[in-house]
Amino acid sequence: MSETRSVVITGASRGLGLASAKYLYHRGWRVVAAVRSVDKGMAALREATGAAEDDPRLLGVRLDLCDPESVAAAAVAIGELVGVPDAVVHNAGIAAAGAVEETPMELWQTMFATHLFGPVALTRDLLPGMREAGRGRIVLISSAGGVRGMPVIAAYSAAKGALERWGESLAGEVAPYGLGVTVLVTGVFDTEIITDDGTTTFRDFEGPYGQHHRTIDKRGRAAMRIAGPPEKFAVRLGRALDGKAPYTRRSVGFDAAALLASNRILPTKAMHQIVRVAMGLPGYKSMRPPPTRLGPTARASILLAKVLPAPAMQRIGLFLIKIRPPTPPPADSAAEIEETSKSPVRESDRGQEDSIHD
Ligand SMILES: NC(=O)c1ccc[n+]([C@@H]2O[C@H](COP(=O)([O-])OP(=O)(O)OC[C@H]3O[C@@H](n4cnc5c(N)ncnc54)[C@H](OP(=O)(O)O)[C@@H]3O)[C@@H](O)[C@H]2O)c1
Repeated sequence: MSETRSVVITGASRGLGLASAKYLYHRGWRVVAAVRSVDKGMAALREATGAAEDDPRLLGVRLDLCDPESVAAAAVAIGELVGVPDAVVHNAGIAAAGAVEETPMELWQTMFATHLFGPVALTRDLLPGMREAGRGRIVLISSAGGVRGMPVIAAYSAAKGALERWGESLAGEVAPYGLGVTVLVTGVFDTEIITDDGTTTFRDFEGPYGQHHRTIDKRGRAAMRIAGPPEKFAVRLGRALDGKAPYTRRSVGFDAAALLASNRILPTKAMHQIVRVAMGLPGYKSMRPPPTRLGPTARASILLAKVLPAPAMQRIGLFLIKIRPPTPPPADSAAEIEETSKSPVRESDRGQEDSIHD
């Protein structure tokens, strides 16, 4: 008889994590749901699976990836509940929108804590046991943003890209001990993260990137119509957990498959243009401020200054002033200048002066 395999899924309270926990539970796995709120998360999971409160195959541990103490405590709790897990799925994630100029550094810190530092810390704590057991799979949930840096989600893209690179490095280290790493490049699925409610926004629609935001927003809403059901993702995750390769990177969803294929085949320049056009972003230099136009005299002077020695240029300058003296200022402003230079305090300012001294 085969032993019950155990899997830790972070962010199993909703979305892809919840669908995956439900699927794997029904496939006979012992599921450890690592969630920020155990009460809320387990209530949702029990409702989805039909599991009883004392079901030993559906367990919850508290985990906040942004809190190092919570991560360390979660690793201990996982050990107590299931010993060495057979699989760990780093699924929890957050989304935020805004141009690099618009996003505060706190967001970058939270993004990296959620998608990289937290998962790395949890893995570090679980690895000794997994290495000693000589088995286990670590699955990292990446996205299109982890394959290419996508405009106006730079913090998310950077964190997912870093997650992928971390996974690659880790795979090389742990493969000799019989452990495998799988990266799932996930397409668009119908969960909260792709909605306005599930995305923290820093976009200024009236600011310099307003045009970017308007077109991306419009196209993003259209793209939401192709979002797949989370249950489909869960099936692909189940297959990934059965994988034997020391390292694999797979797409989930046809949009992710198309991106991975084109990114592999096409040159960087072409991919940049494809992403730009797909997102409806303005072309290169199209939003630059208009250049200052020089008149023919100014252009001729610059040309002469390049070829003639300085004394010759000086003489030419004096000659030009002689034949075309600078235009004097209009009579009104000349009188005003004279008046200002005579009286240190103007009449209009006198009231202000008085009130200061009162
Ligand atoms: N849906 C898509 O189209 C899509 C596409 C590509 C990649 N992905 C990736 O798939 C993963 C799952 O996303 P989803 O679509 O299921 O999104 P979701 O419905 O918004 O779920 C996100 C989950 O992450 C948890 N979480 C967030 N911050 C956390 C933290 N600091 N500590 C612990 N848990 C935290 C949330 O817990 P709470 O309930 O406590 O908030 C929630 O369970 C993410 O990594 C996402 O980047 C999704």
